[in-house]
Amino acid sequence: MPNSRVLGVLISGRGSNLKAIIDAIAARRLDARIAVVISNRADAPGLEHARAAGIEALVLSHRDYPSREDYDRALIAELRSREVGLVCLAGFMRLLSPEFVDAFPDRILNIHPSLLPRYPGLHPQRQALDAGETESGATVHFVNKDLDAGPIVLQGRVPVVEGDTAETLAARILELEHRLYPEAIAAVCGQ
Ligand code: GRF
Repeated sequence: MPNSRVLGVLISGRGSNLKAIIDAIAARRLDARIAVVISNRADAPGLEHARAAGIEALVLSHRDYPSREDYDRALIAELRSREVGLVCLAGFMRLLSPEFVDAFPDRILNIHPSLLPRYPGLHPQRQALDAGETESGATVHFVNKDLDAGPIVLQGRVPVVEGDTAETLAARILELEHRLYPEAIAAVCGQ
């Protein structure tokens, strides 16, 4: 049985949630180790957070593979070779193949900036505003074969305030995400 305290974090961009996980480990709020950070984009700013913390930062571009399945097989191999027991998606902007999900059963987490099951998919903050919601939040959930639909681990709420734009609401939610994700990982690791 792989050790769920050995993390593999997948990113595509900014990596502020990755940074929050790194900080939580450093502050001993989370007892885990990040074995590798993998980005599908070479220019992802988040890679710098990994490098600065002395964590292996690997770029695996989806453009180098003929199909999603081939790319995901390469991802699986990299994660397995480092004995990753828990895969944490942190702004990884790719759909995962069923094969990837099956390779890490109940061992993949994602964070999504809405109160799932409301507003899965893209631009959830805008969707919440357009629907006239008075609160929103963030959800950490297990990844299954349906988009943003796996079992919920942890959820937090923030208010929608007068004059909010998608950007101001996203910023409020992001602050919450940075507390929520490390906490959810700790819970999944039995801490
Ligand atoms: C976060 O809002 C996360 O919920 C969503 O993508 C964004 C990633 O931000 N899945 P960052 O790269 O962690 O800063």
